Amino acid sequence: VILFLCLSCILTVSLAQDDDYVVNNKYFPDKFMFGCATASYQVEGAWDEDGKGQNIWDNLTHAYPERIKDQNNGDVACDSYHKYKEDVAMLKELGVNHYRLSISWSRILPTGFPYKINEAGVQYYRNFIKELKDNGIEPLVTISIGILPGSTRKLFSSFFGDDVKYWLTFNEPKQTCQQGYGSGEKAPFVQSHGLGEYICTHILLKAHAKAWHIYDDEFRPTQNGLVGITIDTPWFEPNTTSDEDLEASEEQLQFEFGWYATQYSTGDYPEIMKTHVGNRSALEGFQTSRLPEFTQEEIDFINGTFDYLGLNHYSTYMVSAMPEPEIGGPSWEKDTGITVTPWGMRKILKWVKETYNNPAIIITENGISDNGTLSDDLDDESFRSLYYYKYYLSYLRDAMIEDGVNVFGYTVWSLMDNSEWTRGYTEKFGLYQVDFSSGNRTRTPKKSATYYSKVISTRC
Ligand code: NOJ
Repeated sequence: VILFLCLSCILTVSLAQDDDYVVNNKYFPDKFMFGCATASYQVEGAWDEDGKGQNIWDNLTHAYPERIKDQNNGDVACDSYHKYKEDVAMLKELGVNHYRLSISWSRILPTGFPYKINEAGVQYYRNFIKELKDNGIEPLVTISIGILPGSTRKLFSSFFGDDVKYWLTFNEPKQTCQQGYGSGEKAPFVQSHGLGEYICTHILLKAHAKAWHIYDDEFRPTQNGLVGITIDTPWFEPNTTSDEDLEASEEQLQFEFGWYATQYSTGDYPEIMKTHVGNRSALEGFQTSRLPEFTQEEIDFINGTFDYLGLNHYSTYMVSAMPEPEIGGPSWEKDTGITVTPWGMRKILKWVKETYNNPAIIITENGISDNGTLSDDLDDESFRSLYYYKYYLSYLRDAMIEDGVNVFGYTVWSLMDNSEWTRGYTEKFGLYQVDFSSGNRTRTPKKSATYYSKVISTRC
């Protein structure tokens, strides 16, 4: 007995030392949805096949290969255009309930305005969605990830409306607008020095609201689906418990999340943004605030345009109150790395619940890139993505059960390694590794795939 007690004592101590975070073995509800995500440009390839037109990423990766870390592009990517059945077989093997995919607009409406429908492109998504449904996997369709959308009404109607229950209008408006039209880090690489992101967001929020209304008025009565938007945010942990740091964390969250979540609050931008951006714009010599104003009619139109929230969450940052930087002074450094902070998952979910009146939430992305080699990915027992999922899922589970956050699903980014925009193939987020040097893009499950499928089958 003494030996046993000592052993268990040593075990407990060493576990506590190994595990900085708390992992729990409680169950996820039966109806909880587990899934995986990808996006069209990042996996499909077949960039000019069967009548597909060019999109901003095709154009820009071809014109400026030096902007992509490995000078590569999505021309072939994972070749999912040809291998979608294999992808669905992988999903089936994992046992997921849903798959989050996105539509390539240049594949289905290759000319932009005036529209000309590319039947082959539409057929590709029809086949793909049918393959998913035949295998009992619910499609969760994002209308735009990185590629600009065309006619939303067509998507809802004759194309795929009857087969899709979960729609998301936009993915990560912050990245689309700030990186696409502010800093110019992502296509279409527009550098506007602090103006473009405001205009882009303003238009995007109205477009989202319009898509939601079109669905609500014309399609919901017969299709009975749900329309949301995916917003990304880290958690911002106050550095101390001082009032200043707590306030700094809240302000940061409003600028990172609240800016894009107007439909979940009042229909209008957060007050803190109006004050800060307005004040700074005046100091910078602008006649009006850089933050555009919504009319009352627009506010009413935007308010409440959601059926659920898609949340992309990867990481947590520490926040301290700082004096307002001088106009024209050095800009803040940005850290692009993902810091592994599992408890941030619980805190951000609780904050969203409390700030936005407990909306239905699905985690539309969570994951980590392992830059390891093939053998590291497949053989290393300490493969860190496995631990990432284990702990993030534990805190997600606590947010639901302990804090009463209304989360109905979780989606791993990503099903397989893919083209990570300007970082090319140097990032490896996949549960499946893809051999990009082989012509047939062989897929091989990593340890995290085995782990995730065990979580799904045990719901624990
Ligand atoms: C954000 C984006 O939605 C997706 O395209 C990207 O690859 C992942 N998160 C990882 O950065």
